[in-house]
Amino acid sequence: MKCVGFIGWRGMVGSVLIDRMIYKGNFDTIIPYFFSTSQEGKKGPILSKNQNTNHLYNAYNINILKEMNIIITCQGSKYTKEIYKKLRKNKWGGYWIDASSYLRMKKNSIICLDPVNKDIIYKGLNKGIKDFIGGNCTVSLMLMALSGLFKKKLIDWISVSTYQAASGSGSKNMCELLKQMGVIYNNIKNELKDTNYKILEIEKKIKNISLSNIMPIYNFKSVLAGSLIPWIDKKMNNGQSREEWKGQSETNKILSNKKKIIIDGLCVRIGTLRCHSQSLTIKMNKNISIQEIKKIILKNNKWIKIIPNTYSETINKLTPINVSGTLNILIGRLRKMNIGSKYISAFTVGDQLLWGAAEPIRRMLKIIVSNT
Ligand code: HSE
Repeated sequence: MKCVGFIGWRGMVGSVLIDRMIYKGNFDTIIPYFFSTSQEGKKGPILSKNQNTNHLYNAYNINILKEMNIIITCQGSKYTKEIYKKLRKNKWGGYWIDASSYLRMKKNSIICLDPVNKDIIYKGLNKGIKDFIGGNCTVSLMLMALSGLFKKKLIDWISVSTYQAASGSGSKNMCELLKQMGVIYNNIKNELKDTNYKILEIEKKIKNISLSNIMPIYNFKSVLAGSLIPWIDKKMNNGQSREEWKGQSETNKILSNKKKIIIDGLCVRIGTLRCHSQSLTIKMNKNISIQEIKKIILKNNKWIKIIPNTYSETINKLTPINVSGTLNILIGRLRKMNIGSKYISAFTVGDQLLWGAAEPIRRMLKIIVSNT
């Protein structure tokens, strides 16, 4: 049985991973070891009948890490940057499964999203690839929804606008969003009690509070509650944000495309908690009916649910709040656009912490455990 080292298992993505692994009974197929960057020697959890110890090991101790057959980390890129090379230099030949982006675009790594690129993953395992990295959440969620169309090579290009949840920037940011909401509400709650409330005065007050120094913006650097932030991650040389750059580069790597599919658009942070949504304009290379497109999309995996393009189905189902905490990948607003018969619109929603982060790496662990 394989020894698996867990790093960053207490953070947000790590906790979702652990919960899913418990739910799916994955811990009983491995011998888990829990590592910590700050609490070496303290007691960790007991989650497996095979577990020898609940001692927390030092996540920077190469000699102990080297004993693992598999390391799965949700600790972030900084940790990977510091530890990964040292381990490989020390001739560690185990499997490295990582939720962070640091090794994603490296030649010897595969971005794992098995419902989409299972063949590439298995081929990689046979060839001796040892680094399997979870994709960017927005990219993985888009591919989960559309990979039927990609696989049939029906897409010329995609223009996308994202509506990304606070969770994508971390737990502190989620908390900050809620605090911002609280500051706004606390400052206007008395006015709202008045049945003759004056909405324009309330709005003006909210604006003044939002721009004052009582609004907590330590993490976002800007107000998200009642507003939005149309920039995510660093600036690239071509004016894209790094999050926007990932759309095309990671998609083509995940699908191992020789002919690159162009994907570009704007990535926007909005005040939702843990589900990313995306509004897509898809240029097809054939004039196919919406009915046919739906069939192709649905066939691809069992988590996709198509929401009929009606007002009531859309507002009641195609929303972050309905998807939160589930593995459902919703896609709706599917229709031909006025631009032309090969242009379709779509709106998709998925949980950023599940299919966007923890689930692909949980499944990758399972694949390695059962196939190597
Ligand atoms: N970069 C994503 C975001 C999350 O900021 O929403 C992780 O893939």
